[in-house]
Amino acid sequence: MSRAVYDIALLPGDGTGPEVVREGQKVLEALQENGDPQLRFESVQGGALYYRDHGTEWEPGGLEKVRRADAILLGAVGWPGITLPDGNIAGHGLVLGLRFGLDLYANVRPCHLYEGVLHRIGSEFKLVWPPGQVDMTIFRENTEDLYTPIHGTLDRGGSTELAVDVRVITRKGSERVIRRAFEAARRTPRGAPEDGVRRVTCVDKSNVLRGCQFFRQVFDEVGSEFPDVEREYAYVDAFCQWLVRQPSHYHVVVTTNMMGDIVTDLAATLQGGLGFAAGANVGDRHGMFEPVHGSAPKYAGKNQVNPFATFQACVQMLDWLSGRHSDSALANQARRLESAVERVLRAGTARTYDQGGTCTTSDAGDRVAEAIREGRT
Ligand code: IPM
Ligand code: MN
Repeated sequence: MSRAVYDIALLPGDGTGPEVVREGQKVLEALQENGDPQLRFESVQGGALYYRDHGTEWEPGGLEKVRRADAILLGAVGWPGITLPDGNIAGHGLVLGLRFGLDLYANVRPCHLYEGVLHRIGSEFKLVWPPGQVDMTIFRENTEDLYTPIHGTLDRGGSTELAVDVRVITRKGSERVIRRAFEAARRTPRGAPEDGVRRVTCVDKSNVLRGCQFFRQVFDEVGSEFPDVEREYAYVDAFCQWLVRQPSHYHVVVTTNMMGDIVTDLAATLQGGLGFAAGANVGDRHGMFEPVHGSAPKYAGKNQVNPFATFQACVQMLDWLSGRHSDSALANQARRLESAVERVLRAGTARTYDQGGTCTTSDAGDRVAEAIREGRT
């Protein structure tokens, strides 16, 4: 059911997180000037620096606030040298804690190269692939694999002798993310840029790993329900090569958690770098949306980082909320934001340092907010 108001929990977190979340809020507010529906924002403090200062990762009641919200926009967490007693990075509870705690089983990472964005190769900025040739979505399983909290060390005589991480692949975990991938492939208006074919590529290491053989088996079972979508298989090592050699071949990709973590950073290079890479962490009830770049301590407080990944996360958030509440007005807001982003990037007026430019984070936000207002008339 559509509503007049949706509650958005903002989790700025650490480092550059607050800077990009502020710009995300700015462009979302510009979208609301048109009328309904409205987004109501509530900021929740937490992360590594919060932990350093207060001894807990969340502000009091923070987790409950986030749980009650209709959607969550996360900045980034983590700060060098701040770890929890169990050895995990402080801020762990905000990212991995929410992925597991809210059962956000699908990590959806679009990889789209916008016109006007350049590839960064060494110290040069140039176009390797023309825009239109990079347009895929990677679905990464988000609640199991090597991220399952079944690990430990064997300590003897005060020295750590052995460390183990258990890799868990379940039918339920695999099936639900694979189904989402096929549904997305069916839904998108176009298939792969290369040939227009709606295709899902299963990326695994099933020539070696039992868990991957099982993942591929489930992929075939689910995929057989989608005869209109092509099924394709790639071993993760070879996939890394094909991904950079011929990105236009890929439409939708589905993979396990750890491999997904790695290949999505590689794929980000194709879309102009991590400054453009966003991820939706979604389950059946909750959704958390984030730029993938992390807290970037080196740039914290300098108003320099690229906020476009956060804008992309906002697009994903609006689309997800729209689907969940059957609210076409939110999808309309998503399209307006996407179009504003497209126009600003094409014009090249908001190039931050990672694109060889000098535009600040807040100026890039202003450009997009202006484009939203212009697009309205
Ligand atoms: C990501 C990040 C996280 C992950 C970290 C921050 C725990 O690298 O979202 O890709 O490993 O999933
Ligand atoms: Mn990662």
